[in-house]
Amino acid sequence: MRAVVQDRYGPPEVLRVEEIDQPVAGGNQVLVKVVAAGVDQGTWHLMAGEPRMVRLAIGLRRPRMRVSGRDVAGVVEAVGPGVTSLAVGDEVYGTCESGSFAEYAVGRTGQLTRKPANLTFEQAAAVPISAGTALQGLRGIKPGERVLVLGAAGGVGSYGVQLAKAAGAHVTGVSSTAKLDLVRELGADEALDYTRDELPAAAYDFILDTGGNRSLKILRRALKPKGRVVIIGSETKGPLGGMSRILWAALLSLVVSQQLRGLISTERAEDYAELRALIESGKVTPAIDRTYPLDEAAAAIHHLRDGHPRGKLVITI
Ligand SMILES: NC(=O)c1ccc[n+]([C@@H]2O[C@H](COP(=O)([O-])OP(=O)(O)OC[C@H]3O[C@@H](n4cnc5c(N)ncnc54)[C@H](OP(=O)(O)O)[C@@H]3O)[C@@H](O)[C@H]2O)c1
Repeated sequence: MRAVVQDRYGPPEVLRVEEIDQPVAGGNQVLVKVVAAGVDQGTWHLMAGEPRMVRLAIGLRRPRMRVSGRDVAGVVEAVGPGVTSLAVGDEVYGTCESGSFAEYAVGRTGQLTRKPANLTFEQAAAVPISAGTALQGLRGIKPGERVLVLGAAGGVGSYGVQLAKAAGAHVTGVSSTAKLDLVRELGADEALDYTRDELPAAAYDFILDTGGNRSLKILRRALKPKGRVVIIGSETKGPLGGMSRILWAALLSLVVSQQLRGLISTERAEDYAELRALIESGKVTPAIDRTYPLDEAAAAIHHLRDGHPRGKLVITI
């Protein structure tokens, strides 16, 4: 099969399309004929091996997994002997274990579920990691709460705005000037421009932080006295990436009235099923900037890093 592979860490140019063996579904795995694959910042981190600390998990000298991509949407081609919840021919979405920038990918049943019926495969592939992260980050928000989404026109943030609205919150989204219209289209009650506007003081019950790498001092100033912050992440340099801010947040949370914490999201079919219900009821719709063919995966990642996409990018197979 054709797949996007890499043998060393580096810029998008390390990616190339190669003919490799098709993966085989064993145990509780499913083989998916991939129709579309989502692109997210995690794909870049795995490709670049940055921050360096991640190499402890994914391969010190070179990536252990050669094929890029985790988000997937496609059709079940074969199932392992332990699989009962999915069958050949099912249209599925979720994440995979073998790399989704490929004609075929394998994933566990715990990571894959039925695709939302009202989405194309391209739209469905833009959902799992970004929307799953937003869903996990926003757990516990209540109707009427004032929620601030930083990075509101990005991958995670574009879902964050819609999910917070679906939960009945009053939502303010923060983005760059050119994306304020998208933030309003996503349903935000208010849109702030990070190049111009300051965050108001003591205004929010909850902050979902997906961009901008603001100091904890600035975040706390914008929160009400008993407010909560969930730090999803920001693109920052250095060997620890954004981890030091998350560690400080955990420490500070022990001694202040506000709750500050980081989130490491998990890939879960139950969350994708919950998202499917929200999508099929019309409460959540992926915002897709553009799609790229498999051969242009490197261009997609360049656009993700430097092109300021509006919402999500997708690879079509
Ligand atoms: N913890 C986890 O498990 C987890 C899971 C998923 C993602 N992440 C991390 O979370 C971050 C967001 O991911 P993503 O996929 O949503 O990335 P993304 O699509 O690149 O979105 C980030 C958004 O932040 C915006 N932004 C930049 N500077 C800002 C500022 N000062 N104030 C407000 N917004 C600002 C960007 O807007 P412009 O392009 O207009 O500048 C962009 O739309 C990344 O660092 C990613 O690695 C963590």
